Amino acid sequence: MATELDIGLERVVAAATRLSDVQGQRGRLTIAGFPAEEIAPRATFEEMVYLLWYNRLPSPAELTGFGKELANRRDLPDYTIDLLRSAAARSVDPMDALRMGVASLEIRGSDPRTQACSVVSQTATIVATYLRLQSGADPVPPDPELGHAADFLRMVEGEAPAPARVRALETYLNTVIDHGLNASTFAARVIVATDSDMVSAIAGAVGALKGPLHGGAPGPALDMVFEIGDIDHAEPYLREKLERGERLMGFGHRVYKVRDPRADILTLATRTLYAEDQGSQSLYELASGVETIALQLLEEFKPGRNLQTNVEYYTALLLHCLGFSSAVFTPIFAIGRVAGWLAHCQEQRETGRLIRPSCQYIGDHDRIWVPLDQRS
Ligand code: ACO
Repeated sequence: MATELDIGLERVVAAATRLSDVQGQRGRLTIAGFPAEEIAPRATFEEMVYLLWYNRLPSPAELTGFGKELANRRDLPDYTIDLLRSAAARSVDPMDALRMGVASLEIRGSDPRTQACSVVSQTATIVATYLRLQSGADPVPPDPELGHAADFLRMVEGEAPAPARVRALETYLNTVIDHGLNASTFAARVIVATDSDMVSAIAGAVGALKGPLHGGAPGPALDMVFEIGDIDHAEPYLREKLERGERLMGFGHRVYKVRDPRADILTLATRTLYAEDQGSQSLYELASGVETIALQLLEEFKPGRNLQTNVEYYTALLLHCLGFSSAVFTPIFAIGRVAGWLAHCQEQRETGRLIRPSCQYIGDHDRIWVPLDQRS
């Protein structure tokens, strides 16, 4: 039994996985055998999900069948829509609405793959439905003729999206689909390891993803760029933040000690998208300038810590250019990551092992009970 205390668990290897390999010192991410930069900008989201779940790329016939299986499961139960409607009326945060929506889903049938298809498809519909309701519009029902990413954008905007926007979103969803034993994936694995169901695991994972130290960073990262507003303000603004001991959102990573390779994939996708939209080009340029200054200051304030740009910084820019507000960045992250969570749930089930680490007791022993009327 391990006796050494490791509070952040970074030295603990708690699972074997074939889903993704995160090499923090080399800045490499492999997803089911493929370098992330090789596959993320090329595959459809459905291909990526298939790859994670079946450990190989689908044939054309398999992809068509799998795409239909996902597409036919996008509809939400009426009670989930009612729940989202009530949440929107109370201006609930979109990530909390996603957690409520996911938790309301029903587990149907006994085939875990069919259940997993429903959860992946319905997660996207929950986010799209909530966005519509929040803006005061009626939900747009799914169109099973469209691919996952295209239909998500259509359900949000009410009209078919341009192919370049679909490609950008798919590249993003593929890039974040899986990433080793990150906090939300670990949370999902802990839950299914108790033999609980996958909806419970995904609801728990959504809760873990919400935190700003994990998936909640892109909103604050973009807010920071907006607050800076002009590149001349960047240095004093960032310096002041660091002097106050604050963290710069979108920088640093528990595993990556060089630039997060996902940041490169998303930089390219963001640059392509922004190149088509002249109005936003200035924001892209401001963000890249802020990034350069932030990296210099992080090296000055935290020398040798190798704090580099992480995935969240360019996530923010890409999703902003797709027209999403920062409050919804983390729910969109979940639309991609849910496929990875479910693949991990399956792997965890195959081990049949409950996850139950130990803790080091640091309290007292042998205290004596004092009745209430004798306590001061
Ligand atoms: N800004 C300023 N200082 C930082 C930052 C940052 N972004 N990140 C780490 N540091 C500091 C820490 O405070 C620590 O300082 P200290 O030793 O003087 O106390 C030092 O750098 C080393 O920190 P690490 O041990 O490398 O950081 P840790 O592994 O605990 O945290 C984390 C990683 C949580 C991602 C952190 O870098 C952070 O808070 N970043 C900002 C939030 C963010 O962008 N999160 C998204 C991560 S990507 C994802 O989860 C999808």
